[in-house]
Amino acid sequence: MDGAADALVSIDDGALVVDGSGRIVFCGAFDELPEDHESWTVVDHRPGYIFPGFIDTHVHFPQTFIGDAYGGGQLLEWLNACIFPSESQFEDPEFAAAAAVAFCDRRIAAGTTQAMVFGSAFPQAQDALFEETRRRGLRVVSGRGVQTTGPESAARLITSEEDAVRLVSEEIEKWHGADTGDVDTALLHVAVVPRFSLAVTTETLKNLGELYDSVRDRGVYFHSHLNENDRPGTGEVATTKEMYQVDSYLDTYDGKFLPGSKVGGKSFLGKRSILAHAVHCQDVELARMAETGTSISHCPTSQQFLGSGTMPWKRTVASGVTVAIGSDYGGGDEFLLTRVLGDAFKVHISEAGDDGISLHPAELLFTGTLAGARALDMENRIGNFDDGKEADFVVVDPQAWPPLHGLIEKGVRSPDPDLARDQTLFALLMAMREPAITEVYVQGRRIDVA
Ligand code: GUN
Ligand code: ZN
Repeated sequence: MDGAADALVSIDDGALVVDGSGRIVFCGAFDELPEDHESWTVVDHRPGYIFPGFIDTHVHFPQTFIGDAYGGGQLLEWLNACIFPSESQFEDPEFAAAAAVAFCDRRIAAGTTQAMVFGSAFPQAQDALFEETRRRGLRVVSGRGVQTTGPESAARLITSEEDAVRLVSEEIEKWHGADTGDVDTALLHVAVVPRFSLAVTTETLKNLGELYDSVRDRGVYFHSHLNENDRPGTGEVATTKEMYQVDSYLDTYDGKFLPGSKVGGKSFLGKRSILAHAVHCQDVELARMAETGTSISHCPTSQQFLGSGTMPWKRTVASGVTVAIGSDYGGGDEFLLTRVLGDAFKVHISEAGDDGISLHPAELLFTGTLAGARALDMENRIGNFDDGKEADFVVVDPQAWPPLHGLIEKGVRSPDPDLARDQTLFALLMAMREPAITEVYVQGRRIDVA
């Protein structure tokens, strides 16, 4: 895509000026700073690089301690053998509180300043997540994972139909915009999150749809999984279509969850709706997502880990749907989004025939930053360094990670300055590891690992 490459801005000796309220008032060359800058506080990050904070549009809080789990199969086997039992541990408030600290630490270490976080089933665990996120000064959109049906291994995660709606409603009232009291300035937001269609009933979809419809205009989000795994015989996609007797998986989130895709309730789709994976979409599903402004969280690391295939890049982007990146930790085994973007590069260059694409480094950066802001309908607040946006950024110092330092200092670069810039950006994205992320800022405030 030329768009991202054309829009890429790289400033060799740059300055980012943040005002007292945490907003960007200048981003440009250091020697073009206004005269009065001598009276300002200057933090010298040289020889580091400054990037917009990374935005993870799909990551699971209750899987903080269950990454790299061996389940002896693909998605549904792995959920059954590893994930449901592990997520059940969050019923213990002390366990959940410790996980909230660890989860925030991993986000900070990885420079993930904003995230759509798939929540725990347990309200006290969600309280711990929101409280810790607020204490640390991070941003979050999250909601409890709703399950009203499922296998025995999920028994502790499953609630009654009444409790499912009540608990989501209480979470919205308690946490949506809670830090400032205004969703347009808040760092904390809530989402309605049915785990996936196989984990809920038509009654749940109807009830949550009504709830969502009643809070949409308050900026509440919707989040779930879509068309992730289509393993013959035991795949999630075929099982969902069979269980609901619908024409497409998306129909179950679009109010058309009755047999024959008949309308049974309200739609969850819209500009604050993000669906993870979308590996096996029909054209009509992509068109409907584009039409409604629903976005996709692409999770290539997880898709490889669980044998789900990969979201076809060219076809999906061509549909007009916003595609942002998601770690899907612990389905993915990487928190660091540049590693996930690296996997995106590898899987899409390897797609068969004309479907293959060598993603431009600017497009990778866009997917990990501004596309996430767009998917969250927060492009006016975060995602890049436009004047007036809130100053979320990370400092990357190659000297703090010797393998990266070697690539930056000694790697061959093209004589063409634009290509040389792209080569340096690519090396930074592909070879960055957590130790290279030396500082992380949200709204101009530095936040540190505990
Ligand atoms: N589908 C339903 N639950 C999950 C989950 O926890 N992880 C992934 N990757 N897919 C899911
Ligand atoms: Zn997931």
